[in-house]
Order: sequence, then C-alpha cells, then structure tokens
Amino acid sequence: MTRILGIETSCDETAVAVVQDGRLILSDVVASQIDLHRQYGGVFPEMASRQHIVTIVPAIRQAMEQFGLTWPDIDAVATTYGPGLPGSLLVGLNVAKGLAWSQELPLVAVNHLEAHIHANWLALPGQPLPQAPGFPVVCLVVSGGHTLLALMSDHGAYRVLGQTLDDAAGEAFDKVARLLGLSYPGGPAIQEAAKNGDPTAFQLPRAWLGDSLDFSFSGLKTAVLHLVEDSDVQAARRGRKLATPLPPAVMRRLAVPDLAASFQEAVVDVLVEKTRRAAEQCRAVEVLLAGGVAANERLRTRMRQVLPVPVRIPAPALCTDNAAIVASAAYWRFQRGDLAGWGLDIEPNARLPEVARAA
Ligand code: KG4
Ligand code: ZN
Repeated sequence: MTRILGIETSCDETAVAVVQDGRLILSDVVASQIDLHRQYGGVFPEMASRQHIVTIVPAIRQAMEQFGLTWPDIDAVATTYGPGLPGSLLVGLNVAKGLAWSQELPLVAVNHLEAHIHANWLALPGQPLPQAPGFPVVCLVVSGGHTLLALMSDHGAYRVLGQTLDDAAGEAFDKVARLLGLSYPGGPAIQEAAKNGDPTAFQLPRAWLGDSLDFSFSGLKTAVLHLVEDSDVQAARRGRKLATPLPPAVMRRLAVPDLAASFQEAVVDVLVEKTRRAAEQCRAVEVLLAGGVAANERLRTRMRQVLPVPVRIPAPALCTDNAAIVASAAYWRFQRGDLAGWGLDIEPNARLPEVARAA
C-alpha cells in the first residue's frame, strides 16, 4: 500500500490530497481563489501566488486530518512542477520540498497535464472505483491553458498528436464570456447561458486545419468579437469593470444565450471530430477526457454520442484543478523509481513528457 500526498498550486487553486495506490482518494482539499479573481475577470498572477502562501499550510493540515493521517502513514510527497504560473508553482514546489526534506520522504515531480489525465483513474470519495483504463488510449486534455490530443500507451508514455496553435479551449470560453459580459470563469457561465440559446442561431467558424489534429480557437473568438462590436454595446461597456454584467437591454440586443450556445457548439464540434479521428487513427481502446473544459455538459454528451469507443470522463470536480490528480500521476512515477532530486525547479512552460515507449 502506497500513500502519496499531492500538492497542486499551478494556477488559482491551492489543493492538497492524499491518494492510496494511485486510485483511492483518502482526503482531498481544494481552496478555490475564484471569488478573489472574479473582480479582475481572470486570474491575477501575483494575487494567486500570495493567496497560495496564505492557504497552503492550513490545506495540508486539513488534508492530513480529514483521514486521521500522521506523517508515518505517508510514503512520498508529490508536487506539480509545471506548466503553470511561475509564482504559483513556486509556492507548492517549495512547500513540497520542505515537507519531503523534513519528513525524510521521497519527492515526486508531476507534470500538470499528466496529472489531469490521471483523473480517469480516480473516483470521488465514496463512489465505486471504475475498472482501470486499458491501453492504448487517446487523451483529450482541454483546460484553461492547454488543448491537446495525446496517445497514451502506458503510464508516463505519451505521444502528442495535436495541440492548439493559439488559444486553449478554456481560454476561448473565458475570453468569449468576457465579451458577452458573463462572469469568470467563463466555461460554466457560457454553459449556463447556452441552456436557453439556439446553437444554430449564429454560423460561427470551425478551424478544421485540413487533416491535422491541431486546434485553433482564435478565429472563433474574433468572429464573436465582430458580432458584439456594435456601437451601443461598446458604449454600455465603456468605463465598466470587465466582470460587471452589461445592462439587461444590451444583453438582450446581444442575444447572449444564442451566441453562447452557438460558440459552445462550434468548440464542441471541433473537439469531438478531432478526437474521433485520433481514436480511429490510433485504434484506441478508449478515449479519456481531462481538464476543466471536460466538465462541459454539452461536450460530455456529444463525445459519448459520437465516439465509436468508450469515452471516460471524470466527475466535474476531478476535471478542474485539484491535488488528487497529482498524487495519482505520481504513484506510477514512484513505482518506477522516477523520483525528483533536491535541485528540482519549476518549469512554467513544461510540455507533456513524451517518451519513446509510446507506440
Ligand atoms: O483544468 P482547469 O481547472 O485549469 C487549468 O489547468 O487551466 O481548467 C479551467 C478552465 C477554465 O478556462 C474554465 O472556463 C474551464 O476550464 N471550464 C469549463 C467548464 N468548467 C470549467 N469550460 C466549459 N464548460 C465548463 N462547464
Ligand atoms: Zn489544470
């Protein structure tokens, strides 16, 4: 039995969790900073790192107490080293190093994208654990900072098949939400607004990029921008803080639900079709979704309707940033003896670690 304490501070959630054997969540603490950043319409990096400093120690204490754990119960400490915001990553990584050093525990460095993928090995506490995915699988990671398709032939063995050339899917949701006067984070706000909208109301562009499995969302975002560049809307927006809702009359003129639904449909269409092609090309036995945008209800439904192989999607709370996914990904690295040294540094632009083992 191996119990790993994971720490995640790559963006705006201070998270600590203890996971047993890579799959069973014993404790899971997520201190969200969303309310702090909402007034800025997005993550304010310096505020995020300062808040991590304040929250991290109580979060560790809470994660240990939730399951009545003491330090001898823990076999290793894992931390996200990147990708992410530098000031935020530094807090979690340094605290993890200090803990591992003082408790004489091994330290495991985890890539944030690999962590997101491992949400598919977990279940929410109290829920039954699903059978572990078989290999090879195609993974679609869609978060606020990343959008990529990867072939995973084993734990730690990835080959990137395609990625975004500009905005990440979640970033597009967040930016379009701002344009529509919706609150941060944009994904849940657009999903909510879209419930009352017609997804065929606006013909928005889909960047297919030929046969490529790469993505591009900036043209779609610009198309929405042109639709809202109406002088009345601009006048109403002038001088207002980004996250303040627009007056109801302006919201009606903008047809926010229809625009939100049409935008969401355009993103989902491209994500679903490219994932379908990737699964077919790689003869994947399953498809795994991961990252904050995988919480999107329309994406979850369409993926399951269209894909010819089973689609695994973590519970929404495990799609967004948390530390159970860090402790899970760390387990297989720990098993392989892949430990970090005391010289471990952050890598804000880290890519998914690709290795030759991937088919
Ligand atoms: O994975 P995550 O928590 O953080 C990063 O690693 O970036 O993802 C956050 C992103 C945000 O862009 C947020 O708008 C998006 O995930 N998101 C959603 C939904 N819930 C969160 N996007 C679409 N629909 C949702 N329901
Ligand atoms: Zn993330």
